[in-house]
Amino acid sequence: MDYRTIEVKPVTPVIGAEIRGVDLSQSLGDAQWNEIHSAFLEHSVIFFRDQKPMPPERQVAFGKRFGPLHIHPAAPGMDGHPEVFVIHAHKDSKIANGEFWHSDVSCDQEPPLGSILQIHLLPPAGGDTLFASMYAAYDDLSPRMKTYLAGLNAVHESEHIYRGRYSDRGVDDAGKEYPTAIHPVIRTHPETGRPALFVNRTFTTRIDGLPEEESRAILDFLCTHAERPWYQTRFQWRQNDVAMWDNRCTQHMAIWDYWPHERKGNRVTVKGDRPFYRG
Ligand code: SIN
Repeated sequence: MDYRTIEVKPVTPVIGAEIRGVDLSQSLGDAQWNEIHSAFLEHSVIFFRDQKPMPPERQVAFGKRFGPLHIHPAAPGMDGHPEVFVIHAHKDSKIANGEFWHSDVSCDQEPPLGSILQIHLLPPAGGDTLFASMYAAYDDLSPRMKTYLAGLNAVHESEHIYRGRYSDRGVDDAGKEYPTAIHPVIRTHPETGRPALFVNRTFTTRIDGLPEEESRAILDFLCTHAERPWYQTRFQWRQNDVAMWDNRCTQHMAIWDYWPHERKGNRVTVKGDRPFYRG
């Protein structure tokens, strides 16, 4: 791809690119946005270094260029900006968001297309985020395993993750039902047409229609396979950096190695569509 309004520097051969020449605190022209969109599809996660802090309304406006925004089923939104999910871990936190490999809210019937995170406050060291390409994980499977998985579906649940999770932020979830969905194990990306592995350790609980032990063995194999380091990039944040990842073909994991220090940022999440497999 030939970029004219931005500079795109891949950070690994399979996932991630740094985008230069963009100021996300300003509204973007169509030519520049189109190239950012292309880079996003080409590299699956894009990083914007040396940014100014984006006010919530600016981050919301940038997210809306990609589509309508998603409201998190469990986390409270920012006051006045329900689409903004505040990512915050500090000395009194019992959990930190995204500590284990996942694709955001894959338990939704229509899981998010992508997420845009700006980190404003960083610990003195640590707090990196790992991203892994599920295209690369799929491509590397043996032909026989690809055939076996084609057409299988998996159950994604969230009760075990979300129940009580945000009580320290004032959320009373008594009586609330958390989402569950069944999605293809191999998902065709709706924009690139590429197949990607779509199971993760956080939300995927079993493979539909398989005996319990076989489901557990296959899921364990797939999750371990998806976490191989050569499908990954590791992003070391600097203050006000922005990352945007494609939940349809990546997983990520935020490393909580900085307790008792604090890390804080804002995420907006773009709605996605129902996963499908086109064999
Ligand atoms: C998340 O959105 O899963 C958290 C990512 C991060 O904090 O780096």
